Amino acid sequence: MPPSAPQPPGTTAVPRHVAVIMDGNGRWAAERSLPRTAGHRAGVRAVRTTIEECVRHGVAALTLFAFSSENWQRPAGEVSLLMQLFLESLEREVAELDANGVRIRFIGDRARLAPALVTRMAAAEALTAANTRLDLAVAVAYGGRWDIVQAARRLAGEVAAGRRHAGDIDEAALAECLATAGREPPDLFIRTGGERRISNFLLWDLAYTELWFTDTLWPDFGAGCFAAALADFGGRQRRYGRVTGQAEAG
Ligand code: IPE
Ligand code: IPE
Ligand code: MG
Repeated sequence: MPPSAPQPPGTTAVPRHVAVIMDGNGRWAAERSLPRTAGHRAGVRAVRTTIEECVRHGVAALTLFAFSSENWQRPAGEVSLLMQLFLESLEREVAELDANGVRIRFIGDRARLAPALVTRMAAAEALTAANTRLDLAVAVAYGGRWDIVQAARRLAGEVAAGRRHAGDIDEAALAECLATAGREPPDLFIRTGGERRISNFLLWDLAYTELWFTDTLWPDFGAGCFAAALADFGGRQRRYGRVTGQAEAG
């Protein structure tokens, strides 16, 4: 997996791939004395805005963390509302995403999702497969550890079947078995909601991603906040373990 091209400090380079932990829906609702589910509904608006802003700024790929492997441990009512919201949002938004040239795919453990949702997801992926304006991945029932484990299991299966030598397994081979295979790693990671942690998001892929955190709660995330993240990214110097002069020379 080659690293992205280094960018000299002070440039306004746009990240090619942005990954977002959309956090803070529950607190947004609590501040308004509303049920947590109202926060999740309000969060759908911020998803739409973020997709539009990616297209407007020329970001090529976007990965959104919608539901983690650990979120299954939430109260059953909240889990089922979230699943219902995914289904409704897919039904409502996919045609417009398609019309706007967005390719949508899903990463995560589909075996844990309801068949009706999985069918919708596959239909949305098929409908939008040829679109090239924005490559959108939505992480549902996803965990970074889950992804590495399922990749390891696939590689082990190939070794057991005699199709691969264990000694030939390298970083590229593992990356090709991840749910994120074929996508460049994120250049910029955004987490809303004030927590400064990764929460089992793209553990493998974030190795050299620039991290940006904001206290803004996800339903309040808008164009201004996204622009602030991009501006901050533009000032970062990415070294990939090398020294400054090397990085600037590329
Ligand atoms: C993020 O908001 C949405 C999901 C994890 C599904 P939260 O629901 O985690 O909101 P807070 O962090 O409790 O405010
Ligand atoms: C991370 O948020 C997962 C998603 C946004 C989908 P959480 O709210 O689940 O993370 P923790 O529990 O604060 O680490
Ligand atoms: Mg949270």
